[in-house]
Amino acid sequence: MRIKATATALLCMASLMGTTASADPARQAMLVNTCVACHGEAGNSVGPAIPTLAGLSPNYLMGAMLAYKYPDADELEAVIDADPAFEDVEAFNRYGTIMNRLASGYTEEEIKMIAAYFSDQEMQRATQDFDSAQAKKGKKLHTKYCEKCHEDEGRVADDDTGVLAGQWAPYFLYSMADFNNGDRDMPKKMKIKLKEIQDSVGHAGFEQLAHYYASITD
Ligand code: HEC
Ligand code: HEC
Repeated sequence: MRIKATATALLCMASLMGTTASADPARQAMLVNTCVACHGEAGNSVGPAIPTLAGLSPNYLMGAMLAYKYPDADELEAVIDADPAFEDVEAFNRYGTIMNRLASGYTEEEIKMIAAYFSDQEMQRATQDFDSAQAKKGKKLHTKYCEKCHEDEGRVADDDTGVLAGQWAPYFLYSMADFNNGDRDMPKKMKIKLKEIQDSVGHAGFEQLAHYYASITD
């Protein structure tokens, strides 16, 4: 009983701490000002090389920012282990053209506030050109290789895997290039699936996937 009570108290404390991170709207607004200049109003990007952040899960957003901020894998792991607010964050090292330098300017508390803001916004899926025949092939690849972790055609944010449906296609292809050439880490099982596509369909497979995700606007 006693142990249980302590655990409950700790949980309450953790959720109180969680609330504090997003409790100051003025500070939060000031912090995200910098981001929306590139990522669009409320995090819905209008530039095809820049990802939409609106509606991504807090864990995914925090993981991404921490990964940009701490390029050293051991340091990244230590930072995540040290803070209960990052308990469910699984971060993968990643290289960015801009974001590494930018993320290093934010504290962990600021990163929590920023993640809370963007995850609260509604994602507007980008309207983009796509080829229906390619999209159809992409759908098959997605169902076979990706749906298991990127559920509901890549719409689900809560699985902390980003959002693929309606994300910008050029950004998707840059990400795929980063994954494939080792500039961005990923779960082992995803790596296996990417290799299977590479070995069976080749690069065309990633193009087909890009058309497919671009075709999803609902
Ligand atoms: C100068 C433009 C610019 C600014 C300002 C900017 N970003 Fe980015 N962001 C990018 C680009 C470009 C990428 C793709 C990765 C890269 O090349 O660095 C990106 C990628 C990201 C990603 C990865 C998204 C995903 O789907 O994995 C996150 C998260 C992110 N930015 C958060 C932020 C936050 C939070 C801020 C404000 C503190 C911010 N960005 C400010 C340009 C910008
Ligand atoms: C075993 C589960 C798993 C499988 C299978 C998987 N993924 Fe992922 N994927 C993840 C996780 C976890 C992340 C988040 C990585 C991170 O935080 O940087 C991710 C991230 C991504 C991203 C980055 C999103 C962004 O906004 O930057 C893309 C793109 C992606 N996956 C595409 C795919 C495609 C395409 C397939 C199928 C060929 C696939 N994944 C299969 C687990 C998986």
